[in-house]
Amino acid sequence: MSEKFYITTPIYYVNAKPHIGHAYTTITADILARYHRMRGEEVFFLTGTDEHGAKIQQIADKAGKKPKEFVDEISAAFSAAWDTLNISNDNFIRTTDPAHEKAVKEVAQELFDKKFIYKGKYEALYCVGCEQYKTKTELVDGKCPDHKCEPEMHTEEAYLFRMSKFQNELLKLIKGDKLKISPETRKNEVISFYEKEGLKDVAISRKKEKVPWGIELPFDKNHTLYVWIDAFLNYLTGLGWPKDKKTYKKFWPADVQLMSKDILRVHATIWPAMLLAMCEELPKEIFVHGYFTIDGQKMSKSLGNVIDPMELAQKYGVDEVRYFLSREVSFGEDGDFSFIRLEGRYNADLANGLGNLVARVLAMCEKYFDNKIPEKTAGSVERTWQSYEINMEKLAPHLALKDVWDLISFCDQFINTEAPWQLAKVDKERLSRVIYTLLETIRHIAWQIGPFMPMTSDKIFEQLGLKPEVEKKKSLEEAKTWGGLAPGKKIEKGVPLFPRLEK
Ligand code: MSP
Repeated sequence: MSEKFYITTPIYYVNAKPHIGHAYTTITADILARYHRMRGEEVFFLTGTDEHGAKIQQIADKAGKKPKEFVDEISAAFSAAWDTLNISNDNFIRTTDPAHEKAVKEVAQELFDKKFIYKGKYEALYCVGCEQYKTKTELVDGKCPDHKCEPEMHTEEAYLFRMSKFQNELLKLIKGDKLKISPETRKNEVISFYEKEGLKDVAISRKKEKVPWGIELPFDKNHTLYVWIDAFLNYLTGLGWPKDKKTYKKFWPADVQLMSKDILRVHATIWPAMLLAMCEELPKEIFVHGYFTIDGQKMSKSLGNVIDPMELAQKYGVDEVRYFLSREVSFGEDGDFSFIRLEGRYNADLANGLGNLVARVLAMCEKYFDNKIPEKTAGSVERTWQSYEINMEKLAPHLALKDVWDLISFCDQFINTEAPWQLAKVDKERLSRVIYTLLETIRHIAWQIGPFMPMTSDKIFEQLGLKPEVEKKKSLEEAKTWGGLAPGKKIEKGVPLFPRLEK
């Protein structure tokens, strides 16, 4: 039986259109999903939108729209952006889907019946921008550091979730990597939170008159559910749970849940506590990637530096944007986006690197071998494959890409030292070996860039005279075996893959 791989992104708030930060998480999840499919695993890749709560209600009000009308528009914008960016998600979950809402109500009722939810009074600071409760220590000059506004004091009757009960069990599971939190620094932050502040019971409802845009509690119609409880359950309902047990049984627990540091705390506390209360397994790993700034500054509407991934893709191309985002930043560390670096990398790595290599080698095949693949010769790119796979497995896609680009540089050096234009005059046999080696290495490169740049990978297959649909049906083992290119087959030299960007 083949292995399974379930990967999730956070479901994004629909208060505004997607920006490059959302695209970064989603593209990375897509790369990992495509890689695991390439390994022949059964993959489920989930993304979607988080549509309830006070924040969205306020913004819809401001826009003079009904919440549902407003969320429909923005959710469609997310879905369209992911289509443009060639995201291969298996489902797009919306928290306003009736099946999701129904499942959420059932869970609320179950937790209430099991006495994990009880009525009480709650007094805490709340930041609507984060949709999260804040401790005084998290504030800077009394304000939320992310949203630069003073949190509201909530003093009201509410239902609470008995999260404190899970403190010891969860701390043990996190310390023992049963719920793995990566990178290590993030795990340590979570452990320190557990040890210093500890899990306290948390309010999970608001008075309906204050926040009507939410899922009504089945056991008290005057309250709506806290948006995070609703949102977390997407990771289960996105699999068709609880109705479709088959997909859920195959894929749950999630193998990797990707997100940035802004939402780690809730994912490492309320979410696993809910799962324990529901007697469900915990996700295997939460991977926290870095936060993007733009030219060194936080992305914000007021600074006018929010980058729209659709515009970026239109200007530079989809694969180009996917490449840049996955190569530029070490996955797990904070990164900075700048047009200068994007254009620099485009010219250096894509136009002069990959694009030039493919064009040069095909031109030599045309010139010296009448567009036909020459005789096979022995060779290997095993070392690159080994390192590439290790890096993908340890969630370091930027390093896997570096492996591929090292191979590209190696090919460039190989051309320079072998000087095929000289060999053409003096040693035809050696020329044949050199060109076969280069063409076959390019075939491997096309496979390796597949998860990152699916369209470019297909174009390279076509230029090598291969059919992408046939190639993709092959097992990874077959693809990795040296000698996949058949001698005598015609190549199809095409247009340059990456024309140089002029100033
Ligand atoms: N709706 C919640 C998540 C609920 S999941 C059960 C939410 N939504 S969000 O729209 O604010 O998305 C936050 C996530 O978007 C981050 O964790 C990260 O994955 C991505 N990013 C948003 N801005 C980002 C950057 N500037 N940089 C990197 N990732 C960013 O929180």
